Amino acid sequence: MNIINLYEKSENLFFVGGIVRDELLGKKSPDIDLTFVGDAIEFARSLDFGEITQINEEFGSVHLKIDNKTIDITSTRTETYPKKGQLPVVDKIACPLKDDVQRRDFTVNAIAKNCKSGEIVDYVGGIDDLKNKTLRVLHDKSFIDDPTRIIRGLKFAVRFGFELDEHTKKLQDEYLQNVNYEMSFKRLKDELTDAFKLNKQEVLHKFIEQNLYKLLSADQRSAKEVQVQPLVDKYKNEIKNVWICYLGSFDLSNLSLTKTETKVIDDYKKLLSADLSSDFKVYKAFEKVEIESLILLAQTKKEIVEKYLDKLRKIKLQISGEDLIKLGYKPSRKFAQALDAVLQAVIENPTLNHAQQLDMVEKIM
Ligand code: CTP
Repeated sequence: MNIINLYEKSENLFFVGGIVRDELLGKKSPDIDLTFVGDAIEFARSLDFGEITQINEEFGSVHLKIDNKTIDITSTRTETYPKKGQLPVVDKIACPLKDDVQRRDFTVNAIAKNCKSGEIVDYVGGIDDLKNKTLRVLHDKSFIDDPTRIIRGLKFAVRFGFELDEHTKKLQDEYLQNVNYEMSFKRLKDELTDAFKLNKQEVLHKFIEQNLYKLLSADQRSAKEVQVQPLVDKYKNEIKNVWICYLGSFDLSNLSLTKTETKVIDDYKKLLSADLSSDFKVYKAFEKVEIESLILLAQTKKEIVEKYLDKLRKIKLQISGEDLIKLGYKPSRKFAQALDAVLQAVIENPTLNHAQQLDMVEKIM
């Protein structure tokens, strides 16, 4: 049994959302999300193939494993947002498809395709909006219910080269005048990391131009756009958290940052006032910080950062404490000072060879 058998099993099974949008745009979608008009859990249980690996009664959704692939099948549902900006609660399970699509973010993400017949079902004008490269919300309260959609809009706009329709832009502007900071910042962070993972300067450009930074915190003021993408492109193999290279100088206090992300920001802030008046000082200040902190620092100290990343950090001492022990010295605090002194000399003159370095450290000891 394979997934095609599943598609043929019912006329009530639909692809909805990103997968249909991507197919109509001629792009491949990474995951398969299916919507069942009716009760998806009951439907999954009625199948004589596939293994149910997870059930979520509240959302009427189920994970079904077929052919080693896990497919998410969710029941058609309507939702409400009793707490604006927080997760919605399910109102009604097994509603008509027409009602299900109304709970979604943009018309282009509300197009359905019948899995069995292949028929496209578009209740909301999503196909026209796809053709016109337009992002349009389905109702006026969309951003109030779920402000993360503003960042989703940014992501889709840059990913596909789309624009917000005029009314949607007006609703976005209105929301940004009156942001509800009781929102789920976890969801906001997820969308931000996703959007900035695109590693496009355009994301930051729109983020600033459209005042989207207001979502971060009430204290966040406008910021000057700096070129981040060229540097991220240059060192992309070393960067683990691209998003923070773009947003690290904004007020992120509302987002729950991981330990590593917190270290990136703290180190960056310390480096802003560090003494970087010599190559040796730069070397010592930079050697234990993540590259993301340095990319952030490059906003104001680009030349120093690039010199360190391209040149200074490649300089390594050819001697170590082991050499000093072999010379008969006992480990002490002086070891580190002596090695640092040699390091400083090597940074100023990288041609100093092993013997010269050894000679120098002996003299210091
Ligand atoms: N959705 C929504 N509001 C959100 C998140 C999701 O209405 N805040 C709906 C949209 O219909 C979306 C679908 O849920 O298409 C699936 O969400 P998700 O997988 O996050 O997005 P995709 O559209 O599949 O986009 P991506 O390609 O980035 O995964």
